[in-house]
Amino acid sequence: MKVVKTVPELNRLLAPLRADDKSIGLVPTMGSLHEGHLSLVAAARADNDIVVMSVFVNPTQFAPDEDFEAYPRDLEQDIQLAAEAGVDVIFAPLTDEVYPPGFSTFIEVAGAETAGLCAASRPGHFRGVTTVVAILLDLVRPTRAYFGQKDAQQLAVIRRMAIDLALPAEIVGCPIVRDPDGLALSSRNAYLSATERAAALVLYRSLQAAREAIESGQHSRDKIIALVERLIAAEPLAEVQYVEARDAAGLVAPPTLTGETLIAAAARFGTARLIDNIIVEIKET
Ligand code: PAF
Repeated sequence: MKVVKTVPELNRLLAPLRADDKSIGLVPTMGSLHEGHLSLVAAARADNDIVVMSVFVNPTQFAPDEDFEAYPRDLEQDIQLAAEAGVDVIFAPLTDEVYPPGFSTFIEVAGAETAGLCAASRPGHFRGVTTVVAILLDLVRPTRAYFGQKDAQQLAVIRRMAIDLALPAEIVGCPIVRDPDGLALSSRNAYLSATERAAALVLYRSLQAAREAIESGQHSRDKIIALVERLIAAEPLAEVQYVEARDAAGLVAPPTLTGETLIAAAARFGTARLIDNIIVEIKET
């Protein structure tokens, strides 16, 4: 596995592979790798000749009061895990490499995809995500790029951008990876104390309760949201940020839920802000 830190080095490495018509899978990450990231690598490995992973804690997707400085970083460990998982190239650039001095061009999705959910409590977050992902897609020019379903809104926003800008890479969404007790894997789980981690299980349990309610015939968006909010709020260590129920593809919010439906929630447990979601297929009644 090669580790490159600059754009010229990356180009030198990828140019002959592109000339040879090799397919390239890109796994964009902010490092602090866990099994969730490694599942993206496995999917990229299965579909492509070459797997490139970017490791870059992107400053533009953090608001000034967020955890950019504290975000866990361990490049040496990431390199080891990525090599074991079969990554061919790690691109771990410094900030100037991605954002040259004087940088002033941003990409912003302005549809239902960026209305509410995480966008409400993280202003500017998705503008930072779409901007850095567009830059990474442009630098690597992959055949496919892989994103986790845990960040369901991010995935919907990136898909919208890829369609609107006719980006050539196929955007591939991969299932959420959970610990055996149901907690969705996240780099931010590292912030949880043992008690907070136990409390955080309420997120997935509440989403599962929403699934059961839907399967028993409750299709009112308001009622499903209220149910999940009530269940999470009953956990004393949880501070609910939002609960949403939206159409899974375009994130529009119909009063009566139908088709592929995303039920998503965000809550704080101590200093950790965690998100989780499920997708439920609702048949027309
Ligand atoms: O999901 C993430 O880790 C980040 O938002 C991404 C897609 C790597 C962009 O910085």
